[in-house]
Amino acid sequence: MKLSIVVPTYNELDNVTVLADQIYTSLQGKVDFEIIFVDDSTDDTPQRLQALANERSYVRFYHRTGEKGLGTAVVLGFSKAQGDVLTVMDADLQHPPSMLVPMMKEIMNGADMVIPSRFIEGGDDGGLAFHRKVVSAVARYIGKLALTSIRKISDPTSGFFMFRRECIRGVTLSPIGWKILIEVLARGRFERIVEIPYRFHPRNAGESKMSIREQWNYLRHLLKLMIEIPEERRFYLFALVGLSGVVINMVIYDVLVHLGLAVPLSAFISAICAMVSNFILNDSLTWREVHSTSLHKRALKYGVTSVVGISVNILVLDLLYKGAHIHYLVSNLVGIACATVFNYIANNAWTWRS
Ligand code: GDD
Ligand code: MN
Repeated sequence: MKLSIVVPTYNELDNVTVLADQIYTSLQGKVDFEIIFVDDSTDDTPQRLQALANERSYVRFYHRTGEKGLGTAVVLGFSKAQGDVLTVMDADLQHPPSMLVPMMKEIMNGADMVIPSRFIEGGDDGGLAFHRKVVSAVARYIGKLALTSIRKISDPTSGFFMFRRECIRGVTLSPIGWKILIEVLARGRFERIVEIPYRFHPRNAGESKMSIREQWNYLRHLLKLMIEIPEERRFYLFALVGLSGVVINMVIYDVLVHLGLAVPLSAFISAICAMVSNFILNDSLTWREVHSTSLHKRALKYGVTSVVGISVNILVLDLLYKGAHIHYLVSNLVGIACATVFNYIANNAWTWRS
């Protein structure tokens, strides 16, 4: 298996040769590899890289002038890579090349993705400045909250990882900003993800290009993934559809009562209308990609789920209100939240099972 190491570079003049040397020392005779530098530099890094590519058969180099940005540079590198296994690492030696062999071993043992982590037993963040520690922790937390696909990963904002190319076959990557690992994890298909501890080193030479702008790009990137990936947006769509149901229910109820219908009958009819509207919206929006059973089966399952959901709501409400003397409105709100989560899980796993 051939390994392609993609390295994005922006003004890394004093790092690229040392990096290439260290990768060569770590891998030669053990792994068939190539290094692909994708460069956006404004200094003399491209000249240095060109010289390296001329001297060494395992180095390739692309320089971009029209476009800039870490994420898209890596995507270009992937498209040029010849290996079946792809790696991304920074040029400044913060990611130790000595990790490549142990990472490759995990791939050989069947891993789809290997992520060296600073945040598991034995890992070390290399003494990041305090403010970067805080920013980094908050960024990780927000990411895990936003995307289910990275929830179990301890170091999802890292720029160091290795994976089997087949896991992104047919997938279009379109990252905003820096967090290419999140893009790959969210859009790719990975069964076995392995994390191994490592020590993040201090930068070798030059300076970090991290900026407030990149933090902002990160948030935009998360939002983009939440909107574009069906599995990620599903719960939010479901909750929105539920809210629309509440509005429909109230409006129809009010109209019927004003028309002179009895209150219980009005409530019953309006609840049925809301349920039908919710089903139609969920079927055509929330789970539109997964229609494996017939429409009437889906409708029936949805109905059953809703009835059980209402029972969950009433049960929780009763427990909190009568059992724990919590305010009746708060009790109902918690009941509704529990029923929403129950309904979502049941509908996802049963009504619209993919
Ligand atoms: N091609 C290209 N274009 N490369 C870039 C660009 C760009 O616009 N911006 C940065 N790079 C390259 C740098 O030259 C370096 O090789 C790598 O991307 C990472 O940039 P650094 O400036 O060294 O980032 P950092 O050390 O502050 O952040 C790194 O560690 C963080 C974890 O603390 C990155 O890997 C982050 O993604 C990571 O979250
Ligand atoms: Mn760095």
